Amino acid sequence: MQIAIFGTGYVGLVLAATMSDVGQDVTCVDVDVEKIAGLKRGEVPIYEPGLEALVRDNQAAGRLTFTTDPAVGVASASIIFIAVGTPPEEDGSADLRHVLSVGEMVGTLMQEPKIIINKSTVPVGTADRVKATVTARLAERGLTGLEFDVVSNPEFLKEGAAVADCMKPDRIILGVETAGGRSEQLLRELYGPFNRNHDKILVMDVRSAELTKYAANCMLAAKISFMNEMAHLADKIGADIEKVRLGIGSDPRIGYHFIYPGVGYGGSCFPKDVRALISTAREHGIDPMVMEAVNNRNNHQKTLLFDKIRARFGSDLRGRTFALWGLSFKPNTDDIREAPSRTLMEALWAAGAHVRAYDPKAMKACQEAYGDRPDLFLAQSQEQALEGADALVLVTEWKSFRSPDMAEIAAKLKQPVIFDGRNIFDPAMAAGYGLEIVGIGR
Ligand code: UGA
Repeated sequence: MQIAIFGTGYVGLVLAATMSDVGQDVTCVDVDVEKIAGLKRGEVPIYEPGLEALVRDNQAAGRLTFTTDPAVGVASASIIFIAVGTPPEEDGSADLRHVLSVGEMVGTLMQEPKIIINKSTVPVGTADRVKATVTARLAERGLTGLEFDVVSNPEFLKEGAAVADCMKPDRIILGVETAGGRSEQLLRELYGPFNRNHDKILVMDVRSAELTKYAANCMLAAKISFMNEMAHLADKIGADIEKVRLGIGSDPRIGYHFIYPGVGYGGSCFPKDVRALISTAREHGIDPMVMEAVNNRNNHQKTLLFDKIRARFGSDLRGRTFALWGLSFKPNTDDIREAPSRTLMEALWAAGAHVRAYDPKAMKACQEAYGDRPDLFLAQSQEQALEGADALVLVTEWKSFRSPDMAEIAAKLKQPVIFDGRNIFDPAMAAGYGLEIVGIGR
């Protein structure tokens, strides 16, 4: 099948790579000239395990092409995916400019029937707006009879595991205008290679599909915020949240996933999507009480490590240096959008402290975000970050941080304390090296 994908961010690029890998002809369209030029040379602008090889191999095989010309994309395919960004507006609602501009382009350029599939995370009702946009452009061109469908097909991939998630999805949601219609049939065929063993396709109406995406992310964010609140309570009453986590996770109705307390959720999805759903609820006259609480708890959680550092070292941190392990919002990605590490570093700097930071993949992103500043040292290794530091702060649980040389840490730190924002270190074991672990809720 011939497909075009507008937008080469996480969602668009991973979709393009995995679809071309199973034999589809994929044309990627993006307005970013430099990005497209880089992709043509096989340069993938994000770190995502397995992605670069897929892009390179499928491009070499001629199944995957990149262009900045929307006319090429629209002409090349009967199936058009919208996978452009939906950045937050100031009030938290999603900015649909890019999504609707793809609608404009398709409506202006299409010459034969199309299926337009929305993969971007968009508020309920967006498919209708895309439909109206394309219809208006076709009417201007006197082509009111030209058929097209708008389908909602939200993406559920996780950064750091994006390729694997796309190859083996838990579910494939198709929000269609007509159940059993031509669009559904074509999409079932398109997703066939990823829908083996048992049928993972769930067909529903467009609005339910749009809401499913937000509801999934907000439910996961709610689990995390709930656990973070329990951790706070555990801290105060002398309980160990890690024991509580295992205790409640063993109930299959609760489950072990997404109940890890920590320094708050970050990234390009949860924070933005929770705020967007709050905004949607308000627009419809609903008081989003639960989601407000989820959001508030998370904002608070992101300052928690700093509060613990302050409780230990005082409010004036001038002359203090902190080693910081982990900058990305979670392991296996170089993404630092809304990362808790940023809230922490900014608070440490404001209090006069210096930071020696190390991350296996996000050093470049950090350098780009903060430039050269005298109170930030970008270390070449996790060991180098420790040199001359008063204490170590663990923010992101990369594998390489999980079993460090505790004796070396104890020798290098001026004070034998580790602030463990992810509860990855065993306090009893660390105590054997004379190190104190200040964790979350234990
Ligand atoms: C999330 C969803 O998990 C995906 O299903 C969804 O497709 C994606 O958003 C999206 O909408 O595009 P992602 O943001 O890549 O994926 O990362 P997650 O693995 O969900 O982690 C989000 C944040 O929650 C991270 O900061 C992580 O450290 C934090 N987290 C996660 C916790 O603090 N505790 C947990 O138990 C789990």
